[in-house]
Amino acid sequence: MDIRGKRVLVIGGAGLIGSHVVEELLKEDVGEVVVYDNFCRGCLENLDEALKDARCRVFDIGGDVLQTDILDAAVKEADGVIHLAALWLLQCHEYPRAAFDVNIRGSFNVLESCVNNQVERLVYSSSASVYGDALQEPMTEDHPYNNWTFYGATKIAGEHMMKAFHKRYGLNAVGLRYMNVYGPRQDYRGTYIAVIMKILDNIDKGIPPVVFGDGSQAYDFIYVEDTARANVCALKSDVPFGCYNVGRGIKTSIKELTEIILEITGSDLEIRYEPAGQTFVTNRVGDPAAAEKDLGFTWTVDLEEGLRRLVDWRNTHIEEVERRRSVLR
Ligand SMILES: NC(=O)c1ccc[n+]([C@@H]2O[C@H](COP(=O)([O-])OP(=O)(O)OC[C@H]3O[C@@H](n4cnc5c(N)ncnc54)[C@H](O)[C@@H]3O)[C@@H](O)[C@H]2O)c1
Repeated sequence: MDIRGKRVLVIGGAGLIGSHVVEELLKEDVGEVVVYDNFCRGCLENLDEALKDARCRVFDIGGDVLQTDILDAAVKEADGVIHLAALWLLQCHEYPRAAFDVNIRGSFNVLESCVNNQVERLVYSSSASVYGDALQEPMTEDHPYNNWTFYGATKIAGEHMMKAFHKRYGLNAVGLRYMNVYGPRQDYRGTYIAVIMKILDNIDKGIPPVVFGDGSQAYDFIYVEDTARANVCALKSDVPFGCYNVGRGIKTSIKELTEIILEITGSDLEIRYEPAGQTFVTNRVGDPAAAEKDLGFTWTVDLEEGLRRLVDWRNTHIEEVERRRSVLR
């Protein structure tokens, strides 16, 4: 899709990835970027920079994907839609009915509205959670759905509804299966990455960082700005339909992650190991080749550099971080 001069609706645009997507879009020659969000997790602070650009605004009538007439009014104005709104993994675990409503019914509402309003292209935030634990590595897009969580179930449903709408109505759509996203504006509620903030909190207090289990759980960490660029690449692509990994293809264990954080903060604290608590997935790494080939997306920020940027943001946004710390779940 040629996005020059076009209007893009970013649903869930006040969240971690969404707010970075908004900023990435504003680097392009787009006509307007409209944020649609109910602010149940995202916040206006995340859009401070973006809203300085006259081409960016928050849809002010409402922002819930469950309010179909208001959603439709927002989609009606859009040429392209990027849909990131969802309840997060732990929320889905504890409140599956709410997860069904927001992630499945809400995504259906978005799809239906995109078809009714002849939207040119939809980009949908899926997740590497569709894969569950890796059965083979790195995981390519045809890796089995080894998912056992309700969150993953909602993402599989989202992908398949989208596929059916592509086939039935010709809706051009791309799903993005992000690996583990971290970076500025992250909070303490991310299942796998909250550990980064907790390690930094301990280092600040001079307390040894805690790793649960033996620290061998390993993930594919990707910097948030890279995931935002993946959304823009997917929007600009001409792929009629597809679901793609968004990761680096590099596996890092929690022990290695903690060691890197200790090194970049110049701390000589030793890791303290505690018994493993609830874990959903302990091993995953995605193959980034298909996204590079079909969407032209390649990651740019390595883990050390990304963590340095996260630490800088945390040090310069102390009150914001404190507010996020006070809402742990
Ligand atoms: N962060 C990750 O590591 C990761 C990994 C894989 C997939 N994802 C997916 O990517 C997307 C964005 O993730 P994120 O980390 O930015 O999450 P986030 O929670 O920060 O952003 C989601 C946004 O959606 C909004 N929202 C929630 N319910 C809504 C509703 N009913 N109507 C309108 N808006 C609503 C929230 O207020 C929030 O701003 C989500 O779909 C998530 O499942 C994230």
